Amino acid sequence: MSASEATGNTIPASLPLRNDLIGEEPYGAPQLDVPVCLNVNENPYPPAPDVVKAITERIAAIASTLNRYPDREHIELRQAFCDYLSRESDAHLAVEQLWGANGSNEIMLQLFQAFGGPGRIALGADPTYSMYPEYARDTFTTWHTAHRNPDFTLDVDALLVAIHDTKPAMVVLTSPNNPTGTALPMDDLRRILEACEQAPVAGANEGVHPIVVVDEAYIEFRDPGLASAAILINQYQNLAVSRTMSKAFAFAGARVGYLAACRGIIDCVRIVRMPYHLSAVTQAAALAAFDHTDEQLARVAHLRDTRERTAQWLATLQYKGQTVKVAPSESNFLLFGGCFDNRGSIFDELLKRGVLIRVVGPDGWLRVCMGTDEEMARFREALAEVLPIVGQL
Ligand SMILES: Cc1ncc(COP(=O)(O)O)c(C=O)c1O
Repeated sequence: MSASEATGNTIPASLPLRNDLIGEEPYGAPQLDVPVCLNVNENPYPPAPDVVKAITERIAAIASTLNRYPDREHIELRQAFCDYLSRESDAHLAVEQLWGANGSNEIMLQLFQAFGGPGRIALGADPTYSMYPEYARDTFTTWHTAHRNPDFTLDVDALLVAIHDTKPAMVVLTSPNNPTGTALPMDDLRRILEACEQAPVAGANEGVHPIVVVDEAYIEFRDPGLASAAILINQYQNLAVSRTMSKAFAFAGARVGYLAACRGIIDCVRIVRMPYHLSAVTQAAALAAFDHTDEQLARVAHLRDTRERTAQWLATLQYKGQTVKVAPSESNFLLFGGCFDNRGSIFDELLKRGVLIRVVGPDGWLRVCMGTDEEMARFREALAEVLPIVGQL
């Protein structure tokens, strides 16, 4: 069966699918077999041979125990998350303040399962990561958004008004934000955390206050000087920081995400997790990768540099007499355009040339993820060719 056959929708009307899911499609960017894949914000550099060897050895070492369930509390891995956060972000946390799951997608879903639900509100700031409304749908949580400023920075005043008006159980912020790349300044985050310490929660008892979830999937790509929200965890009991090994850490295929928060938040999440949700194979692979943290992160600085050079190049382009805009990004992708009246055609023409990017974000914009030097050269060549063609259509 081909990938497209496997993903076709064949749901008979006689199946008792939940009413609110009828007509829904599974989420996901196209997985196409093209030479240049710049659409899902992966790290384009594969693990080095010695890391592959270490992963293989770690998995071989636990293979003979696979008749047993894995460590449900994944303590050794949680310690590795602690050590990594202490080293990467200067955030010093205890093992009880860390929690792992199958990608930060599962971390976020567990947060919605624990804190959302019927009668509960989750609040984000658009444009942002398009999975949040899906976690809300799947947990019967109502999803609301405040708007961002025209430059995609967070409009903190508007968010505070929305917190007052909607009484969310969870405020979900993304830093750097996807798809815009915008980072959240620490002072803005503190204002929001402090407002949430006093704010009421719809559908909850008096004295209950919202948590603030900061999704830091791309944080390792930030510019020097910006701190991770994880350094505030010991000051704010209402802060939860979601992170992942999928992006900078170049480990998307292993599916490992983690949450840093006060012990109370972690214990709420532990209530909703599946028993043994993190397989022994996943735990072994992640531990092996953490043993090789330097190698796994070796290309981050280069990707940051690629982002800066690509942003400068994109800003020299013209489309229908207008200069192409580029949103300032602290991530491994760039949102560009702002003037593409036919972004679908630009996407299609790039795809014809073997370059896959993403149609996402506000109308008129496209997102490209940073690839290897060769991939970026092909992207630039294709885009320079395509823009005048689509501009004439
Ligand atoms: C903002 C954001 N959060 C979370 C994720 C999920 O990452 P993963 O489940 O691979 O950790 C992504 C993936 O693209 C993302 O963009």
